[in-house]
Amino acid sequence: MKHLIQVMAAIVFLAAPPVPNPENYENVQLVDCVDSYQVLVNKQYALSPEDAPKDLRVVQVLDSTRNLNLTIKLRSRAADMAEQLFLAAANEGHELLAVSGYRGYMHQKDLYEYYVHEHGKKEADRFSARPGHSEHQTGLAIDVSCLSLDGKIDNKFGETPEGAWLIENAPRFGFIIRYPQDREAETGFKYEPWHLRYVGIAPALIMQQNNWIFEEYVDHILAKER
Ligand code: DAL
Ligand code: ZN
Repeated sequence: MKHLIQVMAAIVFLAAPPVPNPENYENVQLVDCVDSYQVLVNKQYALSPEDAPKDLRVVQVLDSTRNLNLTIKLRSRAADMAEQLFLAAANEGHELLAVSGYRGYMHQKDLYEYYVHEHGKKEADRFSARPGHSEHQTGLAIDVSCLSLDGKIDNKFGETPEGAWLIENAPRFGFIIRYPQDREAETGFKYEPWHLRYVGIAPALIMQQNNWIFEEYVDHILAKER
């Protein structure tokens, strides 16, 4: 009987996906593949303060004020694909606006501390990553909005024609909606229809087909390859 309970406990343990605990940042590990387009950064896996991509460049798209963006940067390949994505959206009648791209460790620290001051730590931890834990530090994440929302970050973005177009089409360009609705317990963050993460076309399409969050993709595909 004792043996049976041990076996059942082991099965339950093995079946549990290795998702971060949204409540805390315990057992944090540093990521060891910072240059990979499939680098996993979340509440459990962190970048170090020195980690900064070497191939950042300005993304040639419109910014939130509808002017040509001069400051928002992504890693070169992600920037190429973001430009293609914005162009494809425009060709189908959807004007996307870029709001935020690469953010260094200290920038994220300031931002997080501002949100903690404004909303308290518990609430801030639901939508703002602590320094070292933001995908924006990878240079692979970009926040987007549209004209009807005045170029602002807003939950309503998911229901705009632009947001709906992205859910359907972003994976074709290698981007995923990293923090989907109703997955906070697994991703550690509230729904962010505006936060696109570049992972590469094949991984993004696999995630879309399986309705997987990135943690599930890493668990099912990448962990098995290693
Ligand atoms: N808003 C996302 C989780 C970040 O701060 O990177
Ligand atoms: Zn973001």
